[in-house]
Amino acid sequence: MLSQIKTLAEHLAPRLLEIRRHIHAHPELSGEEYQTAAYIAGVISSCGLHVKESVGKTGVVGELLNSSESKTLAIRTDMDALPITELTHLDFASRNSGIMHACGHDVHATLGLGTAMILSELTDALPGNIRFIFQPAEEIAQGARWMVDEGVMDGVDAILGVHVLPSIPARTVGIRYGALTAAADELEITIQGESGHGARPHEAIDAIWIAAQVITTLQQAISRTQNPLHPIVLSIGKIEGGRAYNVIADRVKMYGTVRSLNSDTHENLPQWIENLVLSVCSTYGAKYEVNYRRGVPSVQNDPTLTKILESACQEAWGSDLIKIIDEPSLGAEDFSVYLEKANGCMFRLGVGKSEAKNYPLHHPKFEVDEAAIITGVVTLAYTAYKYLLLTNSK
Ligand code: NI
Repeated sequence: MLSQIKTLAEHLAPRLLEIRRHIHAHPELSGEEYQTAAYIAGVISSCGLHVKESVGKTGVVGELLNSSESKTLAIRTDMDALPITELTHLDFASRNSGIMHACGHDVHATLGLGTAMILSELTDALPGNIRFIFQPAEEIAQGARWMVDEGVMDGVDAILGVHVLPSIPARTVGIRYGALTAAADELEITIQGESGHGARPHEAIDAIWIAAQVITTLQQAISRTQNPLHPIVLSIGKIEGGRAYNVIADRVKMYGTVRSLNSDTHENLPQWIENLVLSVCSTYGAKYEVNYRRGVPSVQNDPTLTKILESACQEAWGSDLIKIIDEPSLGAEDFSVYLEKANGCMFRLGVGKSEAKNYPLHHPKFEVDEAAIITGVVTLAYTAYKYLLLTNSK
């Protein structure tokens, strides 16, 4: 099966480059992927997949069905771009001004399409079903929720995902056991004090000074009251308040992001933060409001599926082209929303160029080594096959 997949992939390589370059040249923002979705739907329907469009606004779902009795593996790729003006000099650079595929989602969508093209040629040998999920709006961490709410995970037994990574070389696959990305939540804290003359602070309740205490208390309490092996990053990124240089501020509003990896820690964060804010504010007579919004959970890779992925890569590429990733990222990824419904695994696909500077994701000069596309489709297709073979023969 592996050699058939590799041969088909080599055969498809020029077509996959064409697809990737087309998507790259026509990037669309989160939730507005109309042309991209129509293009993707066209390609997969020509491979004979059952296609559903407008799933979760602009999402596309394609199914390769064998039998309702066997297991279904989902493969999720995202397809939205960023509000960045592209500064590469590629022939196929963005034609949509101010929008760029700077996070590699053009490559991801191509990988989903390439895998669908390959597996649709091998349906008879496929011991189960595959559902291809082309997701919108990953960059605003909403598309996965839109699609899950419309039932894309119904009947799915496991899910695979992929994200490019420029810091590892093309042709290499990055594999991570356990936590891959962090839970990312949003925090708003309002401190309500009492205004007064700047010369007579004792007659007022200084919301700016209390806000400073709150920030300091939160940072110190992370170090003294939270398990250091379960990291938390709390960053206040915006603060507003005050009226004039000689007027004590009556109100301060702060906005921040809170990242964590451990699910118990994540669960307890809103109450823990509120208790600290309460203790500071009540000491100094201020009122407060804490608004904690859950964003996306942490991506936790399933050990069994990760092992299947690793052994597929071992067979396909050998250990020199496998990079076991030692540390999770505190970035966020809404692939975790699918993992509330089924076990899954997301891997990193190396796209680094060997003889050029590799700019990071979200950089206006971000580029990929397109050799990675073949690595990506073969890895997805063969891991999917191995998963179905192992689970359906039990
Ligand atoms: Ni991304």
